[in-house]
Amino acid sequence: MQTLELSLGERSYPIHIGSGLISDSALLERSVAAEQVLIVTNETVAPLYLERLERGLRTRNTAALVLPDGEQYKTLDTFSRIVDRLIELRFHRDACVVALGGGVVGDVAGYAAASYQRGIAYVQVPTTLLAQVDSSVGGKTAVNHPSAKNMIGAFHQPVSVLIDTDTLGTLPGRELAAGIAEIVKYGLILDPELFGWLENNIERLTALEAPALAHAVRRSCGIKAAVVAEDEREQGKRALLNLGHTFGHALETLGGYGKWLHGEAVATGTVLAAETSRRLGWLSADDCRRIEDLLRRAGLPVRAEGVDADDMLEAMALDKKTGRDGLRLVLLTAIGEAVVTAAPEREVLLEVLRGERGTA
Ligand code: NAD
Ligand code: GLY
Repeated sequence: MQTLELSLGERSYPIHIGSGLISDSALLERSVAAEQVLIVTNETVAPLYLERLERGLRTRNTAALVLPDGEQYKTLDTFSRIVDRLIELRFHRDACVVALGGGVVGDVAGYAAASYQRGIAYVQVPTTLLAQVDSSVGGKTAVNHPSAKNMIGAFHQPVSVLIDTDTLGTLPGRELAAGIAEIVKYGLILDPELFGWLENNIERLTALEAPALAHAVRRSCGIKAAVVAEDEREQGKRALLNLGHTFGHALETLGGYGKWLHGEAVATGTVLAAETSRRLGWLSADDCRRIEDLLRRAGLPVRAEGVDADDMLEAMALDKKTGRDGLRLVLLTAIGEAVVTAAPEREVLLEVLRGERGTA
């Protein structure tokens, strides 16, 4: 097992990465200090891993809530179900929520923990690659609004993150690829070496080779922890983690939160951000090609086919980075270097969204 720390003063917490962690009762007991524990999971993950986790936590007063599976359930209704259960169980302020599942479970369970009695502890036990490299770390919790992704939420840090890389063994290939999109993102915004490593090792990741996965998860969590430690509330550098997300969230919203996986939307959004950067003369055509090739090799979609460009711009206007100066985007100046900047004029974005290549 390897342990990283996310340093936030008295709210610092460990990120444990390794094999077999959800059955490690000593680690679980150390990580979940509370007596009252509600495990929140979903109908897909529960039959695979719930019993193991419950066994590991047998010295605690543990209850479980099994949610329906899917991004379309990342809603205020689901949030209310979790809070209802905590009240039914008469859980106190020193209780703990354990989120066992992917980013959907982590985000909604985290938001319930952020709100119940004005905030109780929660532990993230992420079981998708995307959640292991991104959503379980950093304390962003949220549910979706029908008109915009993650519109309702809070910053609330977990007390611990337990990443059991063995759980990736049951993950469908499409979900694995979705997680790779966020790893590519780290390479693109801050770590050209990681991007080069991905170019050389992408097939090892898609084949679930344990050492390659462990390297990618460790490196990604290291980058995310460092960024969040520097800018917890996204006043500056943390916004870079949204590369591809303004386009991507719009794709997810327009698809009714069922068509695109989050990571797929981020992959296509990243290609659109790269193409916008190229159109502005900031990124070379060769770098654009390298980005698209890598995402394709990971099995990810790279074109927003069938999506209306005007609808996209309307949905993008609801992005959380939009301020009184208008829409802002994360764009690339090189592989490994990104900036948060005012969006270019509408016509440029429309051309990019329509797939009109134009010139630099
Ligand atoms: P997800 O939670 O929907 O999980 C994907 C699918 O895999 C689901 O069907 C799930 O039941 C299943 N699953 C989970 N673990 C499994 C396992 N080990 N074996 C088999 N199946 C398994 O999706 P996701 O990609 O994990 O997360 C996407 C969500 O995360 C989005 O809502 C996105 O907005 C959010 N997100 C949040 C942050 C953040 O910082 N909070 C960052 C990135 C993404
Ligand atoms: N996934 C973006 C962030 O955590 O800031």
